[in-house]
Amino acid sequence: MALFKRKEPMLGIDISPSAVKVVELSRSGARFRVEAFAIEPLGEGMLEDRNPVDPEAVGEVIKRACRAAGTRTRRAAVAVPTSSVITRTVPMPAEFTESDIEVNISIEASQYIPYPTEEIYLDFEVKGHSQASSEMQDVMLVATRKENVDSREAALKEAGLTPVVVDVEGYALENSLGLIMDSLPSGGENSGLNLSKGREGLTALMDIGASVSNLYILQGNQTVFSREQGFGCDQLTLRVAEAYGLSREQAERAKRSGQVAEDFAETILEPFKQMLAEQIGHTLQFFFSADLYVSGRYTVNNIVLIGGGAMIMGLDRVVADVLGITTMVANPFRNMGSASRVNSSALLRDAPLLAVASGLALRSLD
Ligand SMILES: Nc1ncnc2c1ncn2[C@@H]1O[C@H](COP(=O)(O)OP(=O)(O)OP(=O)(O)O)[C@@H](O)[C@H]1O
Ligand SMILES: [Mg+2]
Repeated sequence: MALFKRKEPMLGIDISPSAVKVVELSRSGARFRVEAFAIEPLGEGMLEDRNPVDPEAVGEVIKRACRAAGTRTRRAAVAVPTSSVITRTVPMPAEFTESDIEVNISIEASQYIPYPTEEIYLDFEVKGHSQASSEMQDVMLVATRKENVDSREAALKEAGLTPVVVDVEGYALENSLGLIMDSLPSGGENSGLNLSKGREGLTALMDIGASVSNLYILQGNQTVFSREQGFGCDQLTLRVAEAYGLSREQAERAKRSGQVAEDFAETILEPFKQMLAEQIGHTLQFFFSADLYVSGRYTVNNIVLIGGGAMIMGLDRVVADVLGITTMVANPFRNMGSASRVNSSALLRDAPLLAVASGLALRSLD
């Protein structure tokens, strides 16, 4: 019966510089369940400018990840990096239908996109009436170079998967925010009115990656401000390698296990956490000086950590101490059940790394 037809399952596949991350979710009513997940490291140089260099080699890693996850699902959603996408809001006559827009969009694009039209993929989303005029509608144009999409699709196909959705990392993350906010101890309530100050409280989501980190300021589940900064966890690996004369791989393993040397915590780890907290504060300054904030209507009363940096034990406490803002590590799966093949303690540990893959996996369940 159509009403109860099971949605076709789909894998969310995040091909990030450090690893391929796979998540599969299912849903019954309002409840989600983790069906499968895996994280499979990518060797150095397998991505260049965040794109797979050799689809066959990356496909092999994706295949391994799917095997490790124990899934047979073959349909997949993948995302291109946010920084590889150009978006512009273009006003068009309100009476334009989708097909009118489609005809006109590539003409519009040639004005905004600094690449020949044959080198890009274009998409659009109708945002609604223009504020400026009721005779116009706002159309958001999204463009990316073909190689960003093609290299990912090729890697998925090499892994025996069928790419059915190509998303943008930032949108996938936004899509997983519902899960992340629901999982906060306060149920995301803090993002309501902060009565003591008469200001609305916003949440800062901080994604600390390997080489870059991204700050997203959220009003409810909507991103109202974002900023990329060039710091990340690779710096910790380098410090460990330098201090103890280790190779990069050895240093990476050592820092994750914490089994390095007796003075590691004191001389390297704690100062690194302190430095990360200060960098987060510095990144927040970009928001604190933005119009939205200085308007005096808002305040930031929560920091939520995701990405590799969120895996560093006790970072949340250091950030809270240094910045004086409540800080916690996100777990998008907190309110979910999981299939018996899922290793739930590994899922709990790795949850902060899986936000983008989860947002992609949700696409089949929206
Ligand atoms: N348990 C851990 N302890 C400390 N660091 C960790 C741990 N697990 C992962 N990391 C670090 O997190 C980083 C990877 O994080 P993440 O997967 O969020 O990055 P990415 O999305 O691949 O890269 P980027 O966001 O920079 O493009 C690596 O530097 C890795 O060493
Ligand atoms: Mg990342």
